[in-house]
Amino acid sequence: MANPSILILPGDGIGPEVMAEVKKIISWYGDKRELAFDVSEDLVGGAAYDVHGVPLADETMAKAQEVDAVLLGAVGGPKYDVLDFSVKPERGLLRLRKEMDLFANLRPAQCFDALADFSSLKKDVVAGLDIMIVRELTSGVYFGTPRGIFEENGERYGVNTQRYTESEIERVARSAFELAKRRGNKVCSMEKANVMESGILWREVVQRVHDEEYPEVELSHMYADNGAMQLVRWPKQFDVIVTDNLFGDILSDCAAMLTGSLGMLPSASLGAPMENGRPKAMYEPVHGSAPDIAGQGKANPIACILSFAMALRYSFDQGDEATRLEQAIEKVLADGVRTADLMGPEGGTPVSTAEMGDKIIAALD
Ligand code: NAI
Ligand code: MG
Repeated sequence: MANPSILILPGDGIGPEVMAEVKKIISWYGDKRELAFDVSEDLVGGAAYDVHGVPLADETMAKAQEVDAVLLGAVGGPKYDVLDFSVKPERGLLRLRKEMDLFANLRPAQCFDALADFSSLKKDVVAGLDIMIVRELTSGVYFGTPRGIFEENGERYGVNTQRYTESEIERVARSAFELAKRRGNKVCSMEKANVMESGILWREVVQRVHDEEYPEVELSHMYADNGAMQLVRWPKQFDVIVTDNLFGDILSDCAAMLTGSLGMLPSASLGAPMENGRPKAMYEPVHGSAPDIAGQGKANPIACILSFAMALRYSFDQGDEATRLEQAIEKVLADGVRTADLMGPEGGTPVSTAEMGDKIIAALD
């Protein structure tokens, strides 16, 4: 059988720096665990613009459609701020998401014990936290029409439309239930069914998918504003949260910060299953290209490495190996190894991007 395939798109700024550490780890899996991947690499964002005049070449897009998983670093940088909107680095990312139809955005909020002091919440509220927010990514108010700024009776008004079809809700609900089955078997669906018709439909459809296809998973519903409160009050009550594009954007940023640094946050975007049963998938750290520290070896590679761990779990059915990798990271952090972004007020000497990668590999060994 052919090896599973990965397309690596390092991108700009610290993207290539953090991705270099992921490449080391991919090699380790091939050498030490007989888990070999067919890895190819290409350009995205400003790096692609410099060569092709577009932030994602058609050939790269075609490759992304064929592989089992795309790993992306980050795109953008001050050099490209002057470009026209249509060729900005971020458009490369949007094109990938749109053409691969990646409708389910998975944002875990996981607290490594060694970093529990980093949270703005009390240690016992976040220690051991492990929740997953599933945000609908390709529809809702960011895409609905009519939209625009119009004028009536000499006054301007702005319009956006929250629109969800039943099938759009069904497929993201299924993603959430499937995830829950592999985790804590619990889904909380969030909307505002009290004030929005799209929320009424959302609640109804999620309940129906549950009753017909996943009766064994525990399902609850919550108004999204209460959900925001509960996330901060007692986040450990949740396992999987499923919500729409707008609420998910806000709730996932809020949940992410329960656990500390941007340099620690991975994400996955999943689409429909391909012929081989694997979902279309792209994995990427939540952070951007960090131009302020790019080229200095200061970037924390853990967000990108954890994104690869998600790929192991959700694209390659290697949940045990994903856990092993997460445990290696946990151990390195417990040993006090820190990149600069993880230094507390007590100070100390930070390690470089490459040293962090090496320590994680040593812990894997
Ligand atoms: P950013 O995430 O790049 O950086 C925000 C702050 O966090 C900076 O101080 C940075 O040094 C720090 N930081 C980020 N990742 C880090 C890591 N792995 N290790 C240590 N420190 C880290 O967001 P910012 O500054 O708003 O945007 C910079 C550029 O990145 C812009 O061009 C923006 O458009 C782009 N961007 C790209 C994203 C993507 O590719 N998915 C997401 C967000 C921004
Ligand atoms: Mg956001």
